[in-house]
Amino acid sequence: MISNKAKKQIDIWVAKYPEGRQSSAVMEALKIVQAENDNSLTTEAIQAVADYLDMPGIAAAEVATFYENYNHKPVGKHTIRFCHNISCMLNGADDLIVYLEKKLGVKTGEVTKDSLINVKKVECLGACVGAPMFQIGDQYYENLTTDKIDEIVDGLRKKSK
Ligand code: FES
Repeated sequence: MISNKAKKQIDIWVAKYPEGRQSSAVMEALKIVQAENDNSLTTEAIQAVADYLDMPGIAAAEVATFYENYNHKPVGKHTIRFCHNISCMLNGADDLIVYLEKKLGVKTGEVTKDSLINVKKVECLGACVGAPMFQIGDQYYENLTTDKIDEIVDGLRKKSK
């Protein structure tokens, strides 16, 4: 269930915590396993993470279901996490979200027909100075405009061909 590559990545996070505290790496471990499983976590995947970190399955499930950055159904290859909190909202995030929805032909929470992209509205991602902004994977995209959105989305589509 967890690939050797994912285990190596998880081990890097486990090494950051004191001996016997490997469960502290659960958030990153879930993220790594999610990335390897079509960007979503099944009950079995969550249990596999718990087993690997030697922690109760319910504790890993609590983390996986509490935070919005984990998915529990297929959501497409790329999740655009669009901040709609105060700084981003005041700098035009709402209009840009509507623009993005129209461009992709989906509403937030939906997956594009080609199963490539979904859009989530999220709370502040701590990059207010670059508002409006969104996150894809580990990358932040700041000071967004409609032109920048076109460039980013078209780039994602090109990369996936
Ligand atoms: S309000 Fe959008 S990053 Fe802080």
